Amino acid sequence: MRKQILFYLLTVICSIQAYGQQEFRPGSLWPDQDGKHINAHGGGILYHGDTYYWFGEFKTEGKAGNKALVGVSCYSSKDLYSWKNEGIALRVENDSTSEITKGCVIERPKVIYNRKTKKFVLWFHLELKGQGYDAARTAVAVSDHPTGPYRYIQSYRPNSKTWPINFDKAWQTKAVKESDLKAHTDPWRKEVAEGLFVRRDFEKGQMSRDMTLFVDDDGKAYHIHAAEENLTLHISELSDDYLSFTGKWATLAPAGHNEAPALVKRNGKYFLITSGCTGWEPNAARSFVSNSIWGPWISLGNPARGNNAERTFESQSTFILPVHGRKDQYIFMADRWVPENAIDGRYIWLPLTFEGDKPVIKWFDQWSLKQLATP
Ligand code: GAL
Repeated sequence: MRKQILFYLLTVICSIQAYGQQEFRPGSLWPDQDGKHINAHGGGILYHGDTYYWFGEFKTEGKAGNKALVGVSCYSSKDLYSWKNEGIALRVENDSTSEITKGCVIERPKVIYNRKTKKFVLWFHLELKGQGYDAARTAVAVSDHPTGPYRYIQSYRPNSKTWPINFDKAWQTKAVKESDLKAHTDPWRKEVAEGLFVRRDFEKGQMSRDMTLFVDDDGKAYHIHAAEENLTLHISELSDDYLSFTGKWATLAPAGHNEAPALVKRNGKYFLITSGCTGWEPNAARSFVSNSIWGPWISLGNPARGNNAERTFESQSTFILPVHGRKDQYIFMADRWVPENAIDGRYIWLPLTFEGDKPVIKWFDQWSLKQLATP
């Protein structure tokens, strides 16, 4: 009995601490308002009304916890420090014929709000159960409420039978030989840049693994995803209701091996942060800038600075959050994965600042929005 009371008191103290926390502590356990470590990995944030909604992968214990055994979680917050668990926004299904059956892979969920239809639209990377990472699909679900429940609609291999807008006519007709797809030499890079994999996947649709969404000032939304065996990013325009693709798309950094894309617009310029492709293992982040969403994208190198910048402070990008009501304040959101015990993954939130037109990320053991300049 005594033990139970003690445990209860401890939980209450933890929740009060969590509730009162007014700073970010990257890499530490981050208790929600119930005192439990937030479970929203590979996530993204929607600001709607006066509330932030954080969506992420709900992971469970152990290695098996990297698979989708529960679904997409949702948390809400007014101040970005203290988060209320809003439960499961999209649940995996028990029906073994469903594309989102328990045991599939659901990664990097992102939600955007459509002003015209007044619907909340959730997209995520989907791998079908039992197929490893071969399916390489993106999937969409919809809800009338930010916290869900979201109704699963369908998955896509995007842009089947359409060529990217930045593609030479001559590249459309070149043959694709099986042997060419396997080479890893410099001329092969040229082949990739000239659409080797785009042609390979032309009929069945392009691959879509790590992804993010971005809504521009004019309300147009874009889906940015790792395609071509993770060699090349694709940017695809979404339809007006955000539920499908218009067929307008472009390749970005062909053969550059980028994933974990996160995009933000600042002073009319588009900034993209990505990682290299080393699975759960951290690597050096990359950054790009462009005057148009369609490119050309200029590489700006690793935005991380200081100790351990070459491993992005042991993390991988997932989202860039513009802080509401604060001019020029952005948060770089990243994951420190723990693949052996998926539920223990940590969140690395750091200020994203700019030196001229160059994004910069520096490490802080703890920090708060108050610390950042120009309120
Ligand atoms: C990473 C990717 C993660 C997850 C992981 C699986 O490269 O960014 O979202 O897919 O690989 O190994």
